[in-house]
Amino acid sequence: MAGIDYTTLIPNNVNLHENRRLQRALEDWQPKFLEWWQDMGPTGFQTKDVYLRTAISVDAQGWAKFGYTRMPDYRWGIFLAEPEPGRQVNFGDHKGQPAWQEVPGEYRSTLRRLIVTQGDTEPASVEQQRHLGRTCPSLYDLRNLFQVNVEEGRHLWAMVYILDAHFGRDGREESEALLQRRSGDADKPRILGAFNEKTPDWLSFFMFCFFTDRDGKYQLASLAESGFDPLSQTCRFMLTEEAHHMFVGETGIMRIVQRACELMREHKTDDLRKHGGIDLRTVQKYLNFHCSVSLDLFGSEISTNAANFYTAGLKGRFEETKKQDDHLLKGSTYTVAELDGERIVTREEGALVSLNERLRDDYVADCARGVARWNEVIKKHGIDFELRLPHRAFHRAIGIFADVRVSPDGQVISQAGWDAKHCDWLPTEEDKAFIQSLMRPVTEPGKFANWIAPPARGINGQPVDFEYVRLA
Ligand SMILES: [Fe+2]
Ligand SMILES: [Fe+2]
Repeated sequence: MAGIDYTTLIPNNVNLHENRRLQRALEDWQPKFLEWWQDMGPTGFQTKDVYLRTAISVDAQGWAKFGYTRMPDYRWGIFLAEPEPGRQVNFGDHKGQPAWQEVPGEYRSTLRRLIVTQGDTEPASVEQQRHLGRTCPSLYDLRNLFQVNVEEGRHLWAMVYILDAHFGRDGREESEALLQRRSGDADKPRILGAFNEKTPDWLSFFMFCFFTDRDGKYQLASLAESGFDPLSQTCRFMLTEEAHHMFVGETGIMRIVQRACELMREHKTDDLRKHGGIDLRTVQKYLNFHCSVSLDLFGSEISTNAANFYTAGLKGRFEETKKQDDHLLKGSTYTVAELDGERIVTREEGALVSLNERLRDDYVADCARGVARWNEVIKKHGIDFELRLPHRAFHRAIGIFADVRVSPDGQVISQAGWDAKHCDWLPTEEDKAFIQSLMRPVTEPGKFANWIAPPARGINGQPVDFEYVRLA
C-alpha cells in the first residue's frame, strides 16, 4: 500500500486499475487539469528543469525523491496515507461505529460542500502566485515557489479523487467546476475571500504561506479526523506536504527580518527604504493584513454548521483523538470572544457551536510560535522592536467583529479613528509600490536579492548555491 505505482497514467496508491469507472473519470479530467495548469499555473518556466521533490511512498520515512523535473511533467496523482486498521468514528453521534468507507447518504451534500470548499483553495493559490516567478529573489526561492505550486496542484487532485470516487455524477461536475472558477474573477471567483486576494510580491507570498497555508493545515487536520475514512487518509497525506509550505513562509519572513536587522545595524537607521531593505514596520503591516484575512477563513465565532459537522462525525477538532473528554461536547462550554458595546469581552458558549473559534485559537497559538522565532532574530541583533500578531478582532470581514473597527491591539475605535490610523496598520498604496519596486529577479546560483538573507541551508542537503532551477 505504501508504495506508489508510477507505471500508470495517473500515479496512485489506491489500486486505481481495479476501478475502471473511476479510472476513466480521472483520465478524462487529467487533460483538463493540464490545460488549467498551462493557462493558470506559473507564468513562464514551464519548459525549465526544476529541482522538485516527488512522493514515492507515503511512509513517514523517506517518502520523497528529489530530481529535476519540468513542471508540466510533474507526476500529479492520488496518494492516501496508510489506512489505520479498525479505525472508528472518533467523535459525535456516531462515535464508536466503524469509520465509513462510503459516504453516509444523509451527509452527502454536507460532506461534498466541505470537500469542494477545501479543494477550491488549492488551485486558487496557484492562480494567485502565478506571476511571482518573474521576480524571484533567488533560484532557491524560485524552486520553493514551484514546489508549493505543484503540490497545491496535487492537493486539487486529492480532493477531485474523493469527489469522483464517492460522489458520482455530482462529484464529477464539482471536479469540472474546480477548474472553472478563477481567483479574483468578478464573475466566477474562488469560494473563500482570502483566495481572491492578490499575491503580487514575495513579501505577500511568504506571508501567505505562513498565515493562509497554515489555515489550510488546521482545516486539513480537522478533516483528517473525519469519520469518512477516505477523506481522513487523503488529508493525512496532504498534511505532510503542507508542512513544507509553512516552512517556506516562516523561513522566508525570517530571512527578510534577518536582512532588515543587518541593514539597520550597517546603516544605523530603521529607515531601510533608501538602502533597498524592507523595514520592520512594513513587515508588521503585511503581517497584520495576512493574519486578519486568514483569521476570517475559520468562519463565524458561533456556528451551527460547525456544530453539525462535528455531531455528524464529518469534521473534528485539531488533534481530536489526543483530547481527553467525551468527544460529544453536548454539555460542555468553551470561552469565546464577544462584543459588549465598545468592549471586547469573553463569555462561555456551548462547545459545539464554538468549534470554529476553538480551531482559530489553535491556529493563533501556532502563529504566535512562529512570530516568537522571528522576534528572536531581532533580539539577537540587539534591536528594540517586536513583531506582533494583531488582535483577532482587527480588520475582520467575517464574524462578530466584521461590523466594528478595532485597532491591532484590540481597542474598539470609531470610523474616524480608523480612517486616521489604518495607514499605520495596513499596507498603503505607497508601501505596495515600494515593495513592488524591490521585486527584481535574481537568478544567478547562490545570489540573493538585497532585501532577503540567504537561507541557513539548501534543499535536500544541496548547497545554497545549487542550480535549483536550470534557466539556460
Ligand atoms: Fe494545499
Ligand atoms: Fe499549501
